Amino acid sequence: MSVTHTLVEADVLRGQDPELADILLGELARQSTTLQLSAAENYASPAVLAALGSPLANKYAEGYPGARYHGGCELVDIAERLAVDRARALFGAAHANVQPHSGSSAVLAAYAALLRPGDTVLALGLSYGGHLTHGSPANFSGRWFDFVGYGVDAETGLIDRDQVRALARSHRPKAIVCGSIAYPRHLDYAFFREVADEVGAYLIADAAHPIGLVAGGAAPSPVPYADVVCATTHKVLRGPRGGMILCGAELAGRVDRAVFPFTQAGAQMNAVAAKAVAFGEAATPAFAAYARQVVANARVLAARLAAEGLAVTTGGTDTHLITADPAPLGVDGRTARGRLAAAGLVLDCCALPHGDARGLRLGTAAVTTQGMREAELDRIGALLAEVLRGAADTVGARAEVRELTGRFPPYPG
Ligand SMILES: Cc1ncc(COP(=O)(O)O)c(C=O)c1O
Repeated sequence: MSVTHTLVEADVLRGQDPELADILLGELARQSTTLQLSAAENYASPAVLAALGSPLANKYAEGYPGARYHGGCELVDIAERLAVDRARALFGAAHANVQPHSGSSAVLAAYAALLRPGDTVLALGLSYGGHLTHGSPANFSGRWFDFVGYGVDAETGLIDRDQVRALARSHRPKAIVCGSIAYPRHLDYAFFREVADEVGAYLIADAAHPIGLVAGGAAPSPVPYADVVCATTHKVLRGPRGGMILCGAELAGRVDRAVFPFTQAGAQMNAVAAKAVAFGEAATPAFAAYARQVVANARVLAARLAAEGLAVTTGGTDTHLITADPAPLGVDGRTARGRLAAAGLVLDCCALPHGDARGLRLGTAAVTTQGMREAELDRIGALLAEVLRGAADTVGARAEVRELTGRFPPYPG
């Protein structure tokens, strides 16, 4: 089944709403002819997209399998049980909740399960790569909880463990959050567990980024260490946009009640079914090979960017994610992102461990799904630097990107 068929099923959409059909097909063309180097994005499989676009989207299903508010849930109950069982098996977790609508919803539910408004929480500061839900004043987290931020060493870019321990001792938080939108290295979950135990805090791992690598065995798992693991299903994991929570049996009831009825009502059963499909895919040897290749590709890309003169945070990566300062090439992060987008290299800006300047955040999940390997990633790194230096003109770079994506279509056929 080709993805075009899924998007514009039997031309129904084109016949009824050509304006919207043009937007969907235009977006497919954009995703197929530019390089998706955002660390947060990937290409879900046609099977995942088929589940998302299925009649399960019509079904209301408040509650949990076997205990629904609505009638007619026999089949969606089976889909949700399948998703839960596959998630538990994939991550070796006693309990999984697959209903959170997003990564942020999963974090909200984790806080709701463990905390009361006004509680103190220790998390990576936003200027060092903490997520909005880790205490931003613009987010519920910063409004309802008293967040204390730890940081990274300005020189090495690595988490400042001494600071984590000292802040935990002095603030006695109710919970410690480990997880980031931009940290390129593996987290030492055993260290965070030790500190949490020392001060009597819950440990919440927000593994939105690395969870797909964990599924493929290419990153350490937070499951044995954290009280609650929050995750997204749409990054390296390659599932539908959505969230998930993993925990031990003793917190299962609190977590479930925190998702429904505390923070959400009807689950999106099409997304739940699509998560089941993605967990099934992630359990295969092919996905393990994919996860390893994602990291190998990121290492090559990081090394090329460093060789071209960008300041790569922490000197490299253990994961799918790289952050780098383009300033040594004479361009700031925001300008660089715009210039690269014009050339067909799509990526994000991010905070840097030193100073106020914005850097670049890149990831290799999507291009690896397309089948690109070390040689292509090395060339992408060189092309990126040529564009920033002005050594490659935008039109020429765009043509090269088109040629490359033509050889590695995200949805062949
Ligand atoms: C660490 C972390 N937590 C939470 C989220 C939130 O996920 P969502 O955008 O699905 O709400 C993200 C998303 O990038 C993330 O990186």
